[in-house]
Amino acid sequence: MNYHGGRFFRVASRIVISLPMDRYVVIGNPVSHSLSPAIHAQFARELGDAIDYGTLLAPLDGFAAAAANFFSQGGRGANVTLPFKLDALRLADGAAERAALAGAANFLALRSGRIEADNTDGIGLVADLTRNLGLEIRGARILLLGAGGAARGVLAPLLGQAPARLVIANRTPERARELAQHFLSRGPVEAAALDRIPDDGFDLIVNATSTSVRGEPLLLPDRLFAEGTFAYDMAYGPAAKAFLARSRERGMQASDGLGMLVEQAAESYLLWRGRRPQTRDVLAGMREQIA
Ligand code: ATR
Repeated sequence: MNYHGGRFFRVASRIVISLPMDRYVVIGNPVSHSLSPAIHAQFARELGDAIDYGTLLAPLDGFAAAAANFFSQGGRGANVTLPFKLDALRLADGAAERAALAGAANFLALRSGRIEADNTDGIGLVADLTRNLGLEIRGARILLLGAGGAARGVLAPLLGQAPARLVIANRTPERARELAQHFLSRGPVEAAALDRIPDDGFDLIVNATSTSVRGEPLLLPDRLFAEGTFAYDMAYGPAAKAFLARSRERGMQASDGLGMLVEQAAESYLLWRGRRPQTRDVLAGMREQIA
Protein backbone atom coordinates (compact mmCIF):
# COMPACT_ATOMS: atom_id res chain seq x y z
CA MET A 1 0.00 0.00 0.00
CA ASN A 2 1.42 3.38 -0.97
CA TYR A 3 1.45 6.39 1.29
CA HIS A 4 0.53 9.77 -0.14
CA GLY A 5 0.03 11.77 3.05
CA GLY A 6 -3.49 10.47 3.55
CA ARG A 7 -5.49 7.93 5.50
CA PHE A 8 -6.08 4.66 3.73
CA PHE A 9 -9.19 2.60 3.89
CA ARG A 10 -9.26 -0.85 2.35
CA VAL A 11 -12.86 -0.91 1.16
CA ALA A 12 -12.63 -4.09 -0.89
CA SER A 13 -9.69 -6.28 -1.65
CA ARG A 14 -8.43 -4.10 -4.49
CA ILE A 15 -10.03 -0.70 -3.88
CA VAL A 16 -8.20 1.74 -1.66
CA ILE A 17 -9.47 5.24 -0.87
CA SER A 18 -7.14 7.87 0.50
CA LEU A 19 -8.71 10.66 2.58
CA PRO A 20 -6.64 13.75 3.36
CA MET A 21 -5.45 13.83 6.99
CA ASP A 22 -6.64 16.64 9.27
CA ARG A 23 -3.89 19.25 9.17
CA TYR A 24 -2.59 21.28 12.11
CA VAL A 25 0.44 23.51 12.56
CA VAL A 26 2.28 25.53 15.13
CA ILE A 27 2.92 29.02 13.76
CA GLY A 28 5.85 31.03 15.12
CA ASN A 29 9.09 32.79 14.31
CA PRO A 30 11.38 31.04 15.00
CA VAL A 31 9.51 27.75 15.08
CA SER A 32 11.85 24.98 13.94
CA HIS A 33 12.80 24.24 17.58
CA SER A 34 9.17 23.64 18.58
CA LEU A 35 8.36 20.38 20.38
CA SER A 36 4.66 20.69 19.48
CA PRO A 37 4.80 18.47 16.34
CA ALA A 38 6.43 15.66 18.34
CA ILE A 39 3.97 16.07 21.22
CA HIS A 40 0.91 16.01 18.96
CA ALA A 41 2.27 13.07 16.95
CA GLN A 42 2.48 11.08 20.20
CA PHE A 43 -1.03 12.14 21.25
CA ALA A 44 -2.38 11.03 17.86
CA ARG A 45 -0.58 7.67 18.08
CA GLU A 46 -1.92 7.11 21.57
CA LEU A 47 -5.51 7.82 20.47
CA GLY A 48 -5.26 6.06 17.11
CA ASP A 49 -5.90 9.28 15.18
CA ALA A 50 -4.29 10.07 11.83
CA ILE A 51 -3.32 13.73 11.85
CA ASP A 52 -0.67 15.80 10.14
CA TYR A 53 0.86 18.37 12.54
CA GLY A 54 3.74 20.49 11.25
CA THR A 55 5.46 23.82 11.76
CA LEU A 56 4.71 27.03 9.89
CA LEU A 57 7.30 29.79 9.93
CA ALA A 58 5.51 33.11 9.40
CA PRO A 59 7.39 36.29 8.51
CA LEU A 60 7.53 38.69 11.46
CA ASP A 61 5.17 41.07 9.66
CA GLY A 62 3.14 38.35 7.96
CA PHE A 63 1.28 36.31 10.58
CA ALA A 64 -2.24 37.12 9.40
CA ALA A 65 -1.53 36.23 5.77
CA ALA A 66 0.25 32.99 6.70
CA ALA A 67 -2.53 31.86 9.05
CA ALA A 68 -5.32 32.84 6.63
CA ASN A 69 -3.56 30.96 3.85
CA PHE A 70 -3.20 27.85 6.02
CA PHE A 71 -6.90 27.81 6.86
CA SER A 72 -8.01 28.61 3.31
CA GLN A 73 -6.09 25.52 2.18
CA GLY A 74 -8.00 23.24 4.50
CA GLY A 75 -6.01 23.55 7.74
CA ARG A 76 -8.11 22.54 10.76
CA GLY A 77 -6.25 24.16 13.61
CA ALA A 78 -3.13 26.01 14.68
CA ASN A 79 -1.18 26.57 17.83
CA VAL A 80 0.47 29.96 17.94
CA THR A 81 3.73 30.73 19.65
CA LEU A 82 6.02 33.76 20.02
CA PRO A 83 5.78 36.43 18.83
CA PHE A 84 2.29 36.06 17.36
CA LYS A 85 -0.09 35.38 20.28
CA LEU A 86 -1.55 38.90 20.14
CA ASP A 87 -1.87 38.78 16.34
CA ALA A 88 -3.69 35.45 16.68
CA LEU A 89 -6.36 37.00 18.88
CA ARG A 90 -6.71 39.93 16.48
CA LEU A 91 -7.05 37.65 13.46
CA ALA A 92 -9.81 35.49 14.93
CA ASP A 93 -13.50 35.98 14.17
CA GLY A 94 -14.35 35.07 17.77
CA ALA A 95 -12.53 34.28 21.01
CA ALA A 96 -13.14 32.27 24.17
CA GLU A 97 -13.43 34.39 27.32
CA ARG A 98 -10.09 33.19 28.70
CA ALA A 99 -8.31 34.25 25.48
CA ALA A 100 -9.99 37.66 25.53
CA LEU A 101 -9.01 38.07 29.19
CA ALA A 102 -5.44 37.01 28.48
CA GLY A 103 -5.31 39.42 25.54
CA ALA A 104 -3.59 36.66 23.59
CA ALA A 105 -4.33 33.35 21.88
CA ASN A 106 -2.17 30.25 21.47
CA PHE A 107 -4.95 28.29 19.78
CA LEU A 108 -6.94 28.74 16.58
CA ALA A 109 -9.56 26.44 15.08
CA LEU A 110 -11.65 26.63 11.95
CA ARG A 111 -15.29 26.02 12.91
CA SER A 112 -18.14 26.49 10.43
CA GLY A 113 -15.96 28.73 8.31
CA ARG A 114 -14.97 30.97 11.24
CA ILE A 115 -11.54 31.19 12.86
CA GLU A 116 -12.03 30.82 16.63
CA ALA A 117 -9.32 31.71 19.16
CA ASP A 118 -8.64 30.30 22.61
CA ASN A 119 -5.84 30.29 25.14
CA THR A 120 -4.79 26.99 26.71
CA ASP A 121 -1.57 28.23 28.36
CA GLY A 122 -3.13 29.02 31.73
CA ILE A 123 -5.05 25.79 32.03
CA GLY A 124 -1.86 24.00 30.97
CA LEU A 125 0.04 25.62 33.83
CA VAL A 126 -2.67 24.76 36.34
CA ALA A 127 -2.82 21.15 35.10
CA ASP A 128 0.95 20.79 35.44
CA LEU A 129 1.04 22.32 38.92
CA THR A 130 -1.87 20.34 40.29
CA ARG A 131 -1.92 17.06 38.36
CA ASN A 132 1.73 16.45 37.55
CA LEU A 133 3.44 18.18 40.46
CA GLY A 134 0.75 17.54 43.06
CA LEU A 135 0.57 21.13 44.34
CA GLU A 136 -2.51 22.54 46.03
CA ILE A 137 -3.29 25.98 44.66
CA ARG A 138 -6.46 26.53 46.64
CA GLY A 139 -5.45 28.63 49.63
CA ALA A 140 -1.84 29.02 48.43
CA ARG A 141 0.16 32.23 48.52
CA ILE A 142 1.50 32.76 45.00
CA LEU A 143 4.15 35.13 43.71
CA LEU A 144 3.97 35.69 39.95
CA LEU A 145 7.12 37.28 38.53
CA GLY A 146 6.55 39.37 35.41
CA ALA A 147 3.65 41.34 33.97
CA GLY A 148 4.05 40.71 30.24
CA GLY A 149 2.08 38.46 27.92
CA ALA A 150 3.13 35.23 29.62
CA ALA A 151 1.97 36.43 33.05
CA ARG A 152 -1.27 37.84 31.70
CA GLY A 153 -2.11 34.54 30.01
CA VAL A 154 -2.06 32.53 33.24
CA LEU A 155 -3.65 34.95 35.70
CA ALA A 156 -7.33 34.08 35.29
CA PRO A 157 -6.80 30.28 35.47
CA LEU A 158 -4.56 30.68 38.56
CA LEU A 159 -7.09 32.93 40.29
CA GLY A 160 -9.80 30.46 39.28
CA GLN A 161 -8.15 27.94 41.64
CA ALA A 162 -8.88 30.21 44.63
CA PRO A 163 -5.41 30.97 45.98
CA ALA A 164 -5.27 32.90 49.28
CA ARG A 165 -3.14 35.58 47.71
CA LEU A 166 -1.51 36.32 44.36
CA VAL A 167 1.18 39.01 44.15
CA ILE A 168 2.30 40.14 40.69
CA ALA A 169 5.83 41.51 40.96
CA ASN A 170 7.39 43.30 38.04
CA ARG A 171 10.50 45.33 37.25
CA THR A 172 8.20 48.07 35.93
CA PRO A 173 5.66 48.28 38.78
CA GLU A 174 3.02 50.19 36.78
CA ARG A 175 2.58 47.18 34.51
CA ALA A 176 2.00 44.95 37.55
CA ARG A 177 -0.51 47.46 38.93
CA GLU A 178 -2.41 47.61 35.64
CA LEU A 179 -2.59 43.85 35.48
CA ALA A 180 -3.71 43.50 39.10
CA GLN A 181 -6.42 46.09 38.48
CA HIS A 182 -7.58 44.23 35.38
CA PHE A 183 -7.96 40.92 37.25
CA LEU A 184 -9.17 42.23 40.61
CA SER A 185 -12.70 40.94 40.10
CA ARG A 186 -11.30 37.42 39.72
CA GLY A 187 -9.57 37.04 43.07
CA PRO A 188 -7.17 38.39 45.69
CA VAL A 189 -4.54 39.85 43.36
CA GLU A 190 -2.12 42.64 44.22
CA ALA A 191 0.93 44.29 42.64
CA ALA A 192 4.49 44.95 43.77
CA ALA A 193 7.76 46.18 42.36
CA LEU A 194 10.35 43.44 41.88
CA ASP A 195 12.58 45.06 44.50
CA ARG A 196 9.73 45.57 46.99
CA ILE A 197 8.11 42.18 47.21
CA PRO A 198 6.28 41.66 50.52
CA ASP A 199 8.34 39.39 52.78
CA ASP A 200 5.61 37.40 54.50
CA GLY A 201 6.29 34.20 52.57
CA PHE A 202 5.00 32.36 49.50
CA ASP A 203 4.08 28.75 48.79
CA LEU A 204 4.70 29.05 45.06
CA ILE A 205 6.83 31.35 42.92
CA VAL A 206 6.13 31.32 39.17
CA ASN A 207 8.71 32.93 36.92
CA ALA A 208 6.81 34.41 33.96
CA THR A 209 9.47 36.99 33.06
CA SER A 210 11.31 36.64 29.78
CA THR A 211 14.68 36.49 31.59
CA SER A 212 15.08 32.72 31.30
CA VAL A 213 14.39 32.62 27.57
CA ARG A 214 16.65 35.61 26.99
CA GLY A 215 19.39 34.30 29.28
CA GLU A 216 19.30 37.48 31.39
CA PRO A 217 19.83 37.60 35.15
CA LEU A 218 16.74 38.01 37.32
CA LEU A 219 17.57 40.10 40.36
CA LEU A 220 15.55 38.86 43.34
CA PRO A 221 16.05 39.13 47.08
CA ASP A 222 17.57 35.95 48.56
CA ARG A 223 14.84 35.79 51.20
CA LEU A 224 12.35 34.68 48.54
CA PHE A 225 14.29 31.47 48.01
CA ALA A 226 13.01 29.77 51.14
CA GLU A 227 12.68 26.06 51.85
CA GLY A 228 9.02 25.09 51.60
CA THR A 229 8.40 27.40 48.66
CA PHE A 230 7.97 25.72 45.27
CA ALA A 231 9.71 27.42 42.33
CA TYR A 232 8.28 27.10 38.83
CA ASP A 233 9.77 28.54 35.65
CA MET A 234 7.47 28.80 32.66
CA ALA A 235 10.49 28.35 30.38
CA TYR A 236 11.76 24.79 29.92
CA GLY A 237 14.99 22.94 29.31
CA PRO A 238 18.33 24.77 29.45
CA ALA A 239 16.61 28.19 29.52
CA ALA A 240 15.13 27.48 32.94
CA LYS A 241 18.33 26.06 34.42
CA ALA A 242 19.65 29.14 36.24
CA PHE A 243 16.39 29.90 38.05
CA LEU A 244 15.87 26.27 39.02
CA ALA A 245 19.48 25.80 40.14
CA ARG A 246 19.27 28.87 42.36
CA SER A 247 16.05 27.55 43.91
CA ARG A 248 17.32 24.01 44.45
CA GLU A 249 20.54 25.29 46.03
CA ARG A 250 18.32 26.74 48.72
CA GLY A 251 16.57 23.43 49.33
CA MET A 252 13.46 24.29 47.35
CA GLN A 253 11.53 21.98 45.06
CA ALA A 254 11.46 23.34 41.55
CA SER A 255 10.20 22.60 38.05
CA ASP A 256 10.57 24.00 34.58
CA GLY A 257 7.59 24.56 32.28
CA LEU A 258 7.87 21.46 30.09
CA GLY A 259 4.77 20.00 31.72
CA MET A 260 2.88 23.21 30.99
CA LEU A 261 3.85 22.89 27.33
CA VAL A 262 2.57 19.31 27.16
CA GLU A 263 -0.61 20.12 29.08
CA GLN A 264 -1.51 23.14 26.93
CA ALA A 265 -1.01 20.87 23.92
CA ALA A 266 -3.34 18.24 25.41
CA GLU A 267 -5.97 20.90 26.01
CA SER A 268 -5.60 22.08 22.39
CA TYR A 269 -5.98 18.52 21.16
CA LEU A 270 -9.16 18.14 23.23
CA LEU A 271 -10.62 21.36 21.81
CA TRP A 272 -9.85 20.32 18.24
CA ARG A 273 -10.74 16.67 18.37
CA GLY A 274 -12.98 16.08 21.38
CA ARG A 275 -10.69 13.68 23.23
CA ARG A 276 -8.07 14.54 25.83
CA PRO A 277 -4.85 12.54 25.45
CA GLN A 278 -2.95 11.13 28.43
CA THR A 279 0.11 13.24 29.09
CA ARG A 280 2.31 11.31 31.51
CA ASP A 281 4.27 9.21 29.00
CA VAL A 282 4.50 12.06 26.50
CA LEU A 283 5.93 14.34 29.18
CA ALA A 284 8.46 11.67 30.19
CA GLY A 285 9.43 11.21 26.52
CA MET A 286 9.88 14.95 25.97
CA ARG A 287 11.92 15.19 29.17
CA GLU A 288 14.28 12.54 27.77
CA GLN A 289 14.40 14.25 24.38
CA ILE A 290 15.52 17.62 25.75
CA ALA A 291 17.92 16.16 28.34
P1 ATR B 1 6.33 37.75 27.37
O1 ATR B 1 5.29 37.75 26.29
O2 ATR B 1 7.34 36.64 27.27
O3 ATR B 1 5.74 37.87 28.75
P2 ATR B 1 6.92 40.55 27.44
O4 ATR B 1 5.47 40.87 27.26
O5 ATR B 1 7.95 41.34 26.72
O6 ATR B 1 7.22 39.05 27.08
O7 ATR B 1 7.22 40.62 29.01
C1 ATR B 1 8.45 40.30 29.54
C2 ATR B 1 8.35 40.34 31.07
O8 ATR B 1 9.63 40.00 31.63
C3 ATR B 1 8.02 41.71 31.64
O9 ATR B 1 7.31 41.55 32.84
C4 ATR B 1 9.40 42.29 31.87
O10 ATR B 1 9.45 43.32 32.84
P3 ATR B 1 9.16 44.85 32.40
O11 ATR B 1 7.67 44.98 32.31
O12 ATR B 1 9.75 45.66 33.48
O13 ATR B 1 9.86 45.03 31.06
C5 ATR B 1 10.10 41.08 32.40
N1 ATR B 1 11.57 41.22 32.25
C6 ATR B 1 12.26 41.22 31.10
N2 ATR B 1 13.59 41.34 31.33
C7 ATR B 1 13.72 41.43 32.68
C8 ATR B 1 14.85 41.56 33.56
N3 ATR B 1 16.11 41.63 33.09
N4 ATR B 1 14.61 41.59 34.90
C9 ATR B 1 13.35 41.50 35.37
N5 ATR B 1 12.25 41.39 34.59
C10 ATR B 1 12.43 41.35 33.26
